[in-house]
Amino acid sequence: PPPLSPDMSASPPSSSSAPSQFKVKSVSPFTAELEVPGDKSISHRAVMFAGLSNGTCEIDGFLPSEDCWCTVEAMRALGVQIDVLEEGEHGPSKLRVKGNSGRFEAPTEPVYCGNSGTTMRLLSGILAAQPFETELHGDASLTRRPMDRIAKPLRQMGAEIEGRGDRCTAPLKIRGTAEIQPIHYESPVASAQVKSAILLAGMFANGKTSVTEPYLSRDHTERMLHYLLVKTVREGNTVSIWGGQTPESRDLRVPGDISSAAFWIVAAAARPKSRLRVRNVGLNPTRSGILHALIRMGARLNECIDEENGEPVGSVEVNGGSLRGIEIGGDEIPKLIDEIPIIAVAGALAEGKTVIRDAHELRVKESDRISAVAENLRRMGVEVQEFADGMEITGGAKLQGATVDSLGDHRIAMAFAIAGLYAEGETIVRDVECVNTSYPGFEAELKQLIG
Ligand code: S3P
Repeated sequence: PPPLSPDMSASPPSSSSAPSQFKVKSVSPFTAELEVPGDKSISHRAVMFAGLSNGTCEIDGFLPSEDCWCTVEAMRALGVQIDVLEEGEHGPSKLRVKGNSGRFEAPTEPVYCGNSGTTMRLLSGILAAQPFETELHGDASLTRRPMDRIAKPLRQMGAEIEGRGDRCTAPLKIRGTAEIQPIHYESPVASAQVKSAILLAGMFANGKTSVTEPYLSRDHTERMLHYLLVKTVREGNTVSIWGGQTPESRDLRVPGDISSAAFWIVAAAARPKSRLRVRNVGLNPTRSGILHALIRMGARLNECIDEENGEPVGSVEVNGGSLRGIEIGGDEIPKLIDEIPIIAVAGALAEGKTVIRDAHELRVKESDRISAVAENLRRMGVEVQEFADGMEITGGAKLQGATVDSLGDHRIAMAFAIAGLYAEGETIVRDVECVNTSYPGFEAELKQLIG
C-alpha cells in the first residue's frame, strides 16, 4: 500500500501530550491486563537492518518513541526511503523501509541522534564502512556518553573517527572506508551496542570479524540478522560474522518492550492482592533478567512464551505479594541493566537488604543512574549506600512521598512514578517529558492505574 500521505510519512511521534511532571499517590491493590509499546532495541535494529536489506520490508509494532524516530530520520538522511503505513495513538507504528543493499548516500547535514545511544553507536558501525564522511551529534546527555568504546574497534577496522577528549564524546566525525578490515575484538564491556557496531561494520569487511565480551549482552542483533538470513556464529561469549552478506528483505514484527513492562510488573509484584497480565511482550532470555530477579525476591510471577519467531514473545502474569532483598551481580547484570532503577525501587519495598554490584555501566547511561536512584530513594526516606559499581538498599521502611527529579532520564522518571504508588502522601516526579524516549503513553497507563 502507498504511504497514508506524504505529510504523514514525515511525521515524528507526537509529543504534544508530554507531561512536565507526574503527581502520584498510593494505590490500592489493582487488577489489570495490558500491552506495552514496541521494544526499543528491536525497533532500532528493524529500521537499520531493513535499510541494509536487499528489498522492501514492513515493520509492524514499531515503537513510536523519540529515540527510535532518530533512527528513522538518520536512515532517511542516508538515502533510505521509509514510509509510514499506520499511525498508532502515539505516532507511526507500521513502517515500510526500502533497503538499498548497504549502498548509502552521504548525508548533506550532520545527523542528529537525540538521546539515543543505540542510534549513535550502531549507526557508527554502518558508517565506518561507507566511503564518505558523516557527523553524528546528540542532546546534552548523549554528548556526555563515552563513544571511545566504539571508536577504538572501528578505528582498528580502518575508519577514521574524531570525537572530543579521551572518551571520544560526540559530536563524532566518521570517515568511513569501503576497505573496512575484519578484526577480532575483546570488548572490555558487555555491551550490545558495541558488539552490534562491530558486527555491522564486519558485515562489509572481507573475512571474519568477531567480538568477545566479558558477559553475554542482549542478542537482538544476532537474532534479527539470522532471521534476515545473515549468518553469525556464537561460541561462548564470542560472536562472529562473515563479510559480504546482505540481509534478505523480510517483514518484521516488534514485540512489546519488557523494559517498559517492568514498571507495571513491579507495581503489581510488591502489593498483595494485585494481579497483572502483560500480553505480547518480548521474553528474550538476554533481556528478561528482571523476571528472574523478582522471582528470587519472592514475587509470584509466571512467564509464558507463545511464539518463538526470531524473538520469544509471550505474556507475564504477576500475583502481588511481599518481596525480600537479594544480591544481584555478575553475568546477570547485562540481562537487566535497563531495569536496575525499577529493581532498586523493588528493593526498597522488600524486606531486608538488596545489593547490586558489577553495574558500573549505570554511571554512563542516560544519567548516572546509580547516583540518581540513590538520591531519589533517600528523598523518599530509604537508606541507601552507594558503591562505584552499584548500591545497597535497606528495604522495608514505608516510602515517604517526596519531590524527586528524573534528571531527564526516562527510566528514572518512570521508576519513581511507580515508587510513588507505594508512598505515603504525594510524590512529584519532575522533568518527565523524557518518558517519550522509550514509552509514549506511560502517563495514560499510570492514570488508569491510579483511577
Ligand atoms: C541497548 C543496549 C544496552 C541498553 C540500551 C539499549 C541496545 O546498552 O542499556 O538501552 O539496544 O543494544 P549497552 O549495550 O551499551 O549496555
